[in-house]
Amino acid sequence: MVAKGRTFSDIPFSREIFHEVEKIGREGVGPDPDDIEKITATDLAPRFEARYKIINYLVRGFGFRQVLEIASGLTPRGIEMTEDGSIDTYVEMDLPGIMKIKRMIVKAIYRELKKKKRKLFLEEGDVLSGEAMSRAAGHFNIARPIAVVSEGLLRYLSFEEKAEVAGNIRDLLVVFGGAWITPDVTVRSKSIIRTKRGATSISSA
Ligand SMILES: C[S@@+](CC[C@H](N)C(=O)[O-])C[C@H]1O[C@@H](n2cnc3c(N)ncnc32)[C@H](O)[C@@H]1O
Repeated sequence: MVAKGRTFSDIPFSREIFHEVEKIGREGVGPDPDDIEKITATDLAPRFEARYKIINYLVRGFGFRQVLEIASGLTPRGIEMTEDGSIDTYVEMDLPGIMKIKRMIVKAIYRELKKKKRKLFLEEGDVLSGEAMSRAAGHFNIARPIAVVSEGLLRYLSFEEKAEVAGNIRDLLVVFGGAWITPDVTVRSKSIIRTKRGATSISSA
């Protein structure tokens, strides 16, 4: 849905990525073509565009040259920022299923761009695993700070999981220096609090 939403914007590579999603779906590897067809995403598109662009603004504004994007999904940011030269090393990390699809997409786009030398690395990993996070960070130059970026992740995590992710990010920032950049601030009235007994919707602000 987010990938479709970005196709209504001028964000580079959004349409190419969604085109590949459709193609992979037709080949029977990725999401079901009927499900893809049903996605509209027009109402949320401005929010997806805004949160994407504010992250880019901050990463560039602070002059970060190394980025770890966790729960990166089908974002074009890694391709965009390594292509325009604003980043030296970009590492994307997500769960294995989505990373498998992302690899196919990036490979297809790089083939189009006739790109050989890569500054973009795609890693499988769970944000709740400190070990996976530090493995992903193994691509970075230890002497330079990093930006850890997350977009559209936190609202799906319980409070305890949010604390775990924050702790894992802190461990990386202690080593490299840098910052965590996320637009994932959800007003209480819109958030879903997950408890051990299941999901409970909070309706009061
Ligand atoms: C709403 S999507 C947002 C994707 C991307 N950040 C974007 O804006 O296009 C949420 C992403 O979080 C990933 N995710 C959820 N739980 C995760 C976890 N425990 N570890 C790593 N990724 C996770 C999902 O696989 C999915 O790609």
